[in-house]
Amino acid sequence: MSFDLVLFGGTGDLAWRKLMPGLFQAFRHGKLPADGRIIGVARDDLTDAQYRSLIETRFEAVEGAKRPNPDEFARFAGLLQFVRMDLSKPADYARLGARLAERNADTVVMYVATAPALFGTTCEQIAAAGLNKPNTRIVLEKPLGHDLASNRAINATVRGAFSERQVFRIDHYLGKPSVQNLFALRFGNALFEPLWRRETIANIQITIAEDLGVEKRGAFYETTGTLRDMVQNHALQLLCAIGMEPPINAHADAIRDEKLKVLRSLTPWTPQNLSQHVVRGQYAAGAVGGVAVPGYRAEPGVSPDSRTETFVALRTEIANWRWAGVPFYIRTGKRLAGRDAHIEVNFRPAPHAIFTAPPGVANRLVINLQPKDGLELHLLAQGQDDRRNTQSLAPVQLDLDFDSRFGLERVGAYERLLLDVIDGRLNLFVRSDEQEEAWRWVEPILDFWQTDAQGPRPYAAGTWGPSAASAMIARDGYCWSEEC
Ligand code: BG6
Repeated sequence: MSFDLVLFGGTGDLAWRKLMPGLFQAFRHGKLPADGRIIGVARDDLTDAQYRSLIETRFEAVEGAKRPNPDEFARFAGLLQFVRMDLSKPADYARLGARLAERNADTVVMYVATAPALFGTTCEQIAAAGLNKPNTRIVLEKPLGHDLASNRAINATVRGAFSERQVFRIDHYLGKPSVQNLFALRFGNALFEPLWRRETIANIQITIAEDLGVEKRGAFYETTGTLRDMVQNHALQLLCAIGMEPPINAHADAIRDEKLKVLRSLTPWTPQNLSQHVVRGQYAAGAVGGVAVPGYRAEPGVSPDSRTETFVALRTEIANWRWAGVPFYIRTGKRLAGRDAHIEVNFRPAPHAIFTAPPGVANRLVINLQPKDGLELHLLAQGQDDRRNTQSLAPVQLDLDFDSRFGLERVGAYERLLLDVIDGRLNLFVRSDEQEEAWRWVEPILDFWQTDAQGPRPYAAGTWGPSAASAMIARDGYCWSEEC
């Protein structure tokens, strides 16, 4: 099968940090169909050869990416081409069209990795130039809009040019192997399903912690903030994966229908729960890994009196028969104590105690998403050390580490998602109605913050966020894992 992958924003950050390394890995692993072209598109004036060497040098700057083996890279570079384009100029789309017409590939992927403001125009121009053929797929990166109205406007424009099955909306968390294993855990194994409900589960906690700050993206972050950057998409997708009903099969729409139901079942916001169940924070100066770091307001591109949040903790419920009354907590932020994404499923304690156990300790399933990728099942057992007291139990854990179990060369998120686009598999992509529902749910929080005099609560960089996040969960009688 032949393919052309057109990368709008071909010299941008996303292209060289994530997409090109993902494509290179797919190529190295022999997964990329051999007969392909990757056509970078940008305003720069570059020849194909200059584009190839630009990508090669940038690879070296990619965190964790080894310098590519020159022979391997040379073979991969053979796929790379460059077309200079001003995305607002119709004539430039005609030039792109001529390049595509050179061989009429079986599949044409248009990956729009540009500033979001260009999504609409780019789709319109692609259609105006007649490049939206039935074999074309369009890939859109987040953020898709900054609220429900702008998201709908983008989706409407995209719908004007493409049918839904041609549209691949990326949420790269769905491409992570650990997130796929969450689906495998829930729907490939029967063990936990009878326990996966309100009768046995006390609460569920989703944590996506980053130790990095906003880096060079201060200006972008000022207009975005953590709610839009992480909660509206990644965190809600994880909530769907953990809370959804078993889909009838593994087809894209069966999965997406169930995720949509979760989003529709989230308890609506009221003035009362908005003030009690949502905490926003902003990092102040502190230390991460022993190194002093500046506060958010001192980052380049950030206003010295910014009210943008770099941390969000919230509590919600999925109002249906399975989950009624079970709190779901989400917490995510930058400059926290470490890079750690995990989901904790906290089971209810034994209903009748015949042993003594440490207070508050019950069974817990921890789904580690990153940097560790695996499962921990926390149980209570009788220790060997106390020969007199056979009534007392101590916590123990079963550990499954997927990295060592399956080897380290696992498929990266972008490698996986790019291959899925080329192969036309939509399972791991977000449908427009899911995305709109997620915006509909976060919007009252954004509106509330506009009028809330409190502003984000400061927390020292290198900690777990503002104390109000602990107070929020403590009101229910629970605690975040590192505090229990
Ligand atoms: C992106 C956000 O979507 O996800 C970034 O825009 C964030 O702000 C990143 O750092 C986190 O992704 P990962 O894969 O490193 O957890």
